[in-house]
This record gives sequence, C-alpha cells and structure tokens, in this order.
Amino acid sequence: MIREQNLFFEITTNHTSYWFHILPSGHPEHLYYGPRIEAGADAERALADRPVYLGGNGISYSKEYPLVGLEELCLEFSALGHGDVRDPFVTVLYPNGSPVSDFLYEGYQIRDGKSGMQTLPSAYAEEDHQDNRGNAPDCVQELTLTFRDRNYGTVLELIYAAFPDCDVITRRSVLRNEGSRAAEVQRLMSLQLDLADSEYDWHTFTGAWAREFNHQTDRLHQGRFVSESRCGLSSSMNNPFVMLTRPNTTETAGLCYGFNLIYSGSHQEEAEVNAYGKTRILTGIQPDGFSWKLEPGEELEAPEAVMTVTDGGFGALSRSMHRFVRHHIVRGAWKDRERPVLLNSWEAVYFDFNEEKLLEMAKTAADTGIELFVLDDGWFGRRNDARSSLGDWYVNREKLPGGLGELAEKIHSLGMQFGIWVEPEMICVRSHLYEEHPDWAVAVPGTIHSEGRNQRILDLTRQDVRDYIVQAMSDVFSSARISYVKWDNNRIFTDLFSAAGTRPGEFLHRYCLGYYEVMDRLVHAFPDILFEGCASGGNRFDLGVLCYMPQIWASDDTDAVCRAMIQTGMSYGYPMSVISAHVSASPNHQTGRYTPWATRFGVACFGMLGYELNLASLSEEEKQMVQRQIAFYKEHRKTFLSGDYYRLVSGREDDFEKGIWQWMCVAEDQSEAIGFFLQRQFVPNMSAAFFRTQGLDEHALYRFRDFQVGSGLGNEEDFTLSGSLLDHAGVRLTQAYAGEGRKPGTRYFSDAASRLYVIEKAE
Ligand code: DGJ
Repeated sequence: MIREQNLFFEITTNHTSYWFHILPSGHPEHLYYGPRIEAGADAERALADRPVYLGGNGISYSKEYPLVGLEELCLEFSALGHGDVRDPFVTVLYPNGSPVSDFLYEGYQIRDGKSGMQTLPSAYAEEDHQDNRGNAPDCVQELTLTFRDRNYGTVLELIYAAFPDCDVITRRSVLRNEGSRAAEVQRLMSLQLDLADSEYDWHTFTGAWAREFNHQTDRLHQGRFVSESRCGLSSSMNNPFVMLTRPNTTETAGLCYGFNLIYSGSHQEEAEVNAYGKTRILTGIQPDGFSWKLEPGEELEAPEAVMTVTDGGFGALSRSMHRFVRHHIVRGAWKDRERPVLLNSWEAVYFDFNEEKLLEMAKTAADTGIELFVLDDGWFGRRNDARSSLGDWYVNREKLPGGLGELAEKIHSLGMQFGIWVEPEMICVRSHLYEEHPDWAVAVPGTIHSEGRNQRILDLTRQDVRDYIVQAMSDVFSSARISYVKWDNNRIFTDLFSAAGTRPGEFLHRYCLGYYEVMDRLVHAFPDILFEGCASGGNRFDLGVLCYMPQIWASDDTDAVCRAMIQTGMSYGYPMSVISAHVSASPNHQTGRYTPWATRFGVACFGMLGYELNLASLSEEEKQMVQRQIAFYKEHRKTFLSGDYYRLVSGREDDFEKGIWQWMCVAEDQSEAIGFFLQRQFVPNMSAAFFRTQGLDEHALYRFRDFQVGSGLGNEEDFTLSGSLLDHAGVRLTQAYAGEGRKPGTRYFSDAASRLYVIEKAE
C-alpha cells in the first residue's frame, strides 16, 4: 500500500515500512526503511533531522533555507553540488559546462499495478498467480515522484513499486531533457538509500571464473565500500546482489537489507559512510566511463533496483528474494513448469563427437530417465576446438551428416527432447562471418586486439548486427525440433570500439540494451523453448538475464564441494529454480577431486538437475543408480522448484570442523521437505551431528529418513517425529565412523560424503 498525506509518503508491504517526506525546500528526506511500523501523531517529527545549527564548515542549501545542510540529511536521491559531498545519485553536465544540478520536488502520482519500461526488462505484477497456500496475488502499486532542475529544465523521476507479498520494493529513475540544448548524463543510478547510522556489515559476492559467489563481509566505517563490475557483464567478480546487516545478524534473526539490480551490464553497488556516520547505499549502472548524450525531448531510463528488509536474518531475506524472483522476474511458459532432467554433452565429449557417439549416450540417458538431451559446443562450422567458427551457425555435416533435424528426430524417438548450445554474441576471426563483416566485431581498427578464448564480441549496439543474430538463431531454432537452448557468452569487454560510431561512454549500456532487444524478439518468437543463460558459467548471473531465461548455468566448476560453496553463495539472493546444476564425472575435470555419487547428486538436486558426463561409459550398477537418483528427483522436483529454501548450516572453506553444509527445502504446502548434509572433510571422533530443520508444520508429524543410493547401506535414520521437535530440537544423527572399524550402525562418512533426508508428513 502506498499513501501520501501532506507530502509524507508511506510505502507499506506485509512486513516492512518505507517512509520519507518532502521538505519545504523541495528536497526528499528519507525517514525510515525497516520492519513494519505504524505512524503515531509525531512520527514524522521524531524521525526527521532537526538541525538548529550547521557544523563549522557545513554548507547551507540557500539563504531561504539556511538549516538545510544536504551533507547531513538522509535523502531519497542527491545530485552533485549544493553541499552534499557524498557520491551522488545523478550527475548531469549541462551545456554551460556546469555539472551542478538543483532538482526540486514538483509532484507525485500513485497508481495501482506497475508500469513496464521502454528499453529495459523490469519486474512485473502477476495477475493470475495463486500459490499453493491459497495466497492471492500481490496488489502491486507504484509511486512516481517528479523533480525538476530549477535552472535547466531537466526532469528526474523516481519510481517506487511495492510488492506486498514478497516484502519487496523496487526503485528506478528516469531522466528527461525538457531543456532546449543537449546535456551529458554522467551518472544516473537506480537506488539510493540513506540510513541514519553506520553500525552495519556490508556483504558482497565476489569471485572469478569457476569460483563464483564467495560471500565477503566488511564492517562499515567512514569511507566507501564498492562492489562493481567494469567488464560489460554483471560478472563473476562481483554479483549485483549485496546485503547490509546489523553486525550480529544470523540466519534466523537480525536486521538484514538485500539489494539487487535488474541489469546484465557493468554495475556498481556502494555503501558510503560519511563524516556524520550516515550510510548511503547507491546501486545502478557503473558510472565510471559512463556518459550519455541526452538531446532535448529524450529520456534515459536507469535499470530497476530491487530491495527488501527483514529482522528475521539472512534466511528470511533470502526467502523474500526467492519468492520475488520466482513470481515477478521469471516469466513465460517455463516459469512454473517442472524443468526436464537433462544430459549435457560438454564434459562428456567436449568437441570430440559424431552422431553415433551422441546417440550411444542418448540411448543410455533415455534408459536412466533423462528427459532432455543437450548438444553443447562443437556442432557448427569447423568448430573442432575453441579457435574458430563462432558466427557460422550452420551444422557441421562431417559430425552430423543428417543435420540437427535428423539428430533431433532420433533423440525424440528415444523419448527425449532435444536442446542445443549457441554463443550468438561472439565472432571468431576464423569464420565466414568475419570474412564477410569484419566491422561487426568490437575491435579498435589498426591496433592489436586482445582476444579472449580466441573470440571477439559482435557489436550489438548496431541494428544490422542484432537483426543478423535474430535471423541466424531463428534459422537454427526452427531447423529441428528444439525444446531448449543454452545461450553462452565467453568473453568480457575490454577493447571497446564501434565501427558504427556508437559513443564510447554509451557503448556498454547500448550493448546491454541490444542484448535485451535480441532476447526479447527470440523469446517471443519461440515461446516454448526453455532458454538457459550461461557466461563461462556464472559471469552473467543476474535478474536481467532471468527476465528472458528461467535458469542460468551457475558455474563451469562442476566439482560438488566447490559447487556447494558457489550454490550457497547464490542462495542468498537467488532461488534454486534458477540455478542450473549437473552431476559430472569423478575425478572432477576442474579439480581432480574424487567425490561420491551421492554428493554429486545431492548438490545438483538443490538446483535444476542435469548430468554432464559420458553415461554410456558407466557400469550397469552405476546406470541403475543414476536411474534411481532421477526417479527420486522427479518425485520431489516440485519441492526443489518452488519450495522454501533454508541454509541450516553454511560451511566455510578454511575451517575443517565447520566444513559442513546443511540445506533444506520445504514444499509450499509443508507436506514434505528434503534435507541435505555435506561434510567437506572427514574428521575422526567428532561428537554426534544434529540435523535441525526449519520451516516445517509444527503441529504435524513427519517421517524422517535418509535416502541413499549406491552405498550398499540400509537406512541409517528412520524416525516419526513432530515438526516442532524437528525444528527446535533436531535429530541426533547416527554416530559417525571413528577409526575402530566400520561397525554396523555407524555413519560412514568419507571426505566429501553427504546424505539426503526425506521428511514427509506422516498420516
Ligand atoms: C562455457 C560454458 O560454461 C560450458 O558449460 C560450455 O558450454 C563451454 N562454454 C562450451 O564452449
């Protein structure tokens, strides 16, 4: 619900409140964002800044308002100049050479529902959603505030949308040039949140290729703390999802804010503590290097930012974000549809395949219950390694004489669907496409070009290039019965240049807009295809991609122990339903680690399950085990897709005893839950472990059992217990083996061993 009274604004979700008011000077002062509160008669006065003097060297806004010191105030947005020396929300360089703005309040509008955006993907209000608990859809409302620069006629809109059921508020901004001359926008952020103190920890998710989503924590103090990408993609270096918490916040208690951005390009999230101990959060497009020419009458939209807050700790925050992503970001035919269990050819055969080899694998896949066969890289042009052919999207007849169409039909006749890998944004110099259109590649003419994986980026700021990609992909997607597409992207931007003259300061954002235009056209032309995003794994894992593709390949690291860390990091901001995870070979191809089947399967279950190894080379016993794993997954797939996720214990890399992960997901109707326990390294003679659940129906009885496939062991645990006992006391697990021989009744736990627990409501 959004309300205004005498320019005091309240945005309320089921469990949160967001308040601000407009000062007589025309500046919007932020008053509160946190767990839901009710306003008493003096609420506004109690929360507002009430200066009676400004500090010694403080700047006062104007003679008319001498006590408005913008440096001290908590503001809904700030611009360069007039005293606020923190990083600004918006900076415009005006035709007279001045970067100083003076935006003042002009008006507001509240409406039911939510508007879309012109150029960017955005969250949407569901109209017909009804979840299993019978909850009605969110009543989404939107507030637009307008501010006009008193000197130049530029207009800034701040747009807030409230999603009550998910406890999410989104924010975005639009800048319009209503002046008579062009201006240069040097930054336009999406969200600014000024908080009154700085007793906070700043949580970011950092990484690199094959080791994405490390959870980092910094205690704030005076200065700037920045999480950002400058490489043109949202990146595996710093994900746009960040959190701010009180220092004592845990999984189940404590104040916790979460922020994300519906954007796939370079971005920046910043926490700045100023000289007065106020904390400013800013999120949006990376301002460094950004500059956008705004002609009279034009407007620029900043991406939509997402925020939520709870006093229920990290766990509650994650579940709000998960619900929001599932209901208001992911869309299309596959939104709530159960995703097929797939076999991907990449780590099974890499580039080394022909039709016979693929069909041999496909036959075994079909026998084990796999539903979708995905042909990864290597099927087109002369692509026998990573040195050539990106851009030549026609089938390699030496490998596949009957083309994709014939292969797809053979796969379908085995009872599976067929999917394909593409990397359409790229071009290799060794390709026919490059021979025909060298100027379509992003490269500085006459200089050496620094390549990544032997490839260059196609200039998606150009309409002719976008049209080519849409046409080439439409031809591929309609050349065979294709139900799934893995859309990869394997290099970052460094040497920027557009032969079409796109301005350097606009290039990265225009590229991102071009990528969205291409995706938009293709998902509408092929509404039944399940698209999976990928960028060398998680190098473009963000809410922008998820507006087009319901799931993303999480990491090129398929080692189950590494994946436990990566997927735990992801789970803070993203639901299991968007995390694509595969069972791969042991020893693992990235780490050389030997990992039990049960662990590879257990970790991949807490995502959208696939296999990525040569199934045809397995023993009969192993094939039967895979078959039983897949049957188990299918039985509980809905719980993994739409259940509530809990991090019960989060292991840490550097601590042997704490190298334990316990996860759990609970079906929406609480009829069942699946638990998972993984121990990175076996430590002898540890005290008995507990499995303590969360989120069960406390008044119901549950049967708690372990699920083991291929261990040759019987059930270790079998209890009928109340939900309240499981949630509050937990189950003491069978004693672990400790070096006096493996006795019946001990829990055998080698390095990287794990268990899945099935917790089902008992009649
Ligand atoms: C990078 C992806 O992340 C891998 O899964 C695989 O598709 C390769 N590219 C193929 O080149």
